[in-house]
Amino acid sequence: MLVKKMKRNFLGKSIVSVDQFSRQDVDLLFKTAKAMEKIVKKKKPSQLLKGYCVAELFYQPSTRTFTSFLAAAEWLGALTIPVHGMDSYSSAVKGETIEDTVRVVHQTTAADLIVIRHPADDSAEIATEFSYVPIINGGSGKKEHPTQALLDLYTIKKELGRMTNLKVIFLGDLKYGRTVKSLGKLLTLVDKKLELFLVSPKILQMPKTLIKEWQTKGVKIHETENLLPVLSQADILYVTRIQKEWFKNEKEYQKVAKSYIIDKKIMEKAKKKMILMHPLPRVGEIAYEVDDDLRTVYFRQMRNGLYLRMALLKLILRGNKG
Ligand code: CP
Repeated sequence: MLVKKMKRNFLGKSIVSVDQFSRQDVDLLFKTAKAMEKIVKKKKPSQLLKGYCVAELFYQPSTRTFTSFLAAAEWLGALTIPVHGMDSYSSAVKGETIEDTVRVVHQTTAADLIVIRHPADDSAEIATEFSYVPIINGGSGKKEHPTQALLDLYTIKKELGRMTNLKVIFLGDLKYGRTVKSLGKLLTLVDKKLELFLVSPKILQMPKTLIKEWQTKGVKIHETENLLPVLSQADILYVTRIQKEWFKNEKEYQKVAKSYIIDKKIMEKAKKKMILMHPLPRVGEIAYEVDDDLRTVYFRQMRNGLYLRMALLKLILRGNKG
């Protein structure tokens, strides 16, 4: 299915994948996010999206993506309609499909845009194909989480002052994790000197097709199970949760559940200027004792999600002007 490129004009477009973005699109989005920061920091909600309605259709649990999209719409004056696709009130439990549900939600709420999260890899593509209004992918199966990758890159730019010449470690569940796949794609777009260290248990390695795709773009890639030998080189340590929900059973999950735990001792071996990121939630892979380390950015990372999602809503619903 053809997904439209942004081409510096987000108006009316759906966001399914980071593949839709050019470097210029990223720059426009980040410039807009900077303007959105001012609205929140001055505590002066805007009316830019007054009269618009944003629906959220979530079939998987979410705290960050759900609340930040809700807040993003509210800070800009839009109406918001949360729809929990997975709960017993939803007709999804009777078997209603994504194809129908996105059209139903538009009709019953008059939503101008729908944010969707769903466990199927192709859910955002399907929703986009059938929806009357733009769709934003808020996480699709094991495949993509474009708005997370965009907020991650925005965080990298703010924290390190650059998006190039980066040495990045992806740690944890690289097989099922969608955030690392989207962020990897986005980093290959902006950083022609990117070096990636893929650190995971053997059974949770990054899919080979993605590794090959990045290598053909010139990315230097190292795969290992051991964090310590590569840690001191990294500008960014991007930690992910081992995702229990994708394992066949508890026993298989327990074999790898505690593979990596970042604590103060581990942080002593990292660069002074490294940043420690995590899309969150965490389930023990970063110890609380690390939260006060000046290199940890995962709380600021979440706030950047609010600004970035405000910018996306503004650009898709109102365009580049104003
Ligand atoms: N990072 C992220 O997507 O978090 P949620 O699952 O809480 O939305």
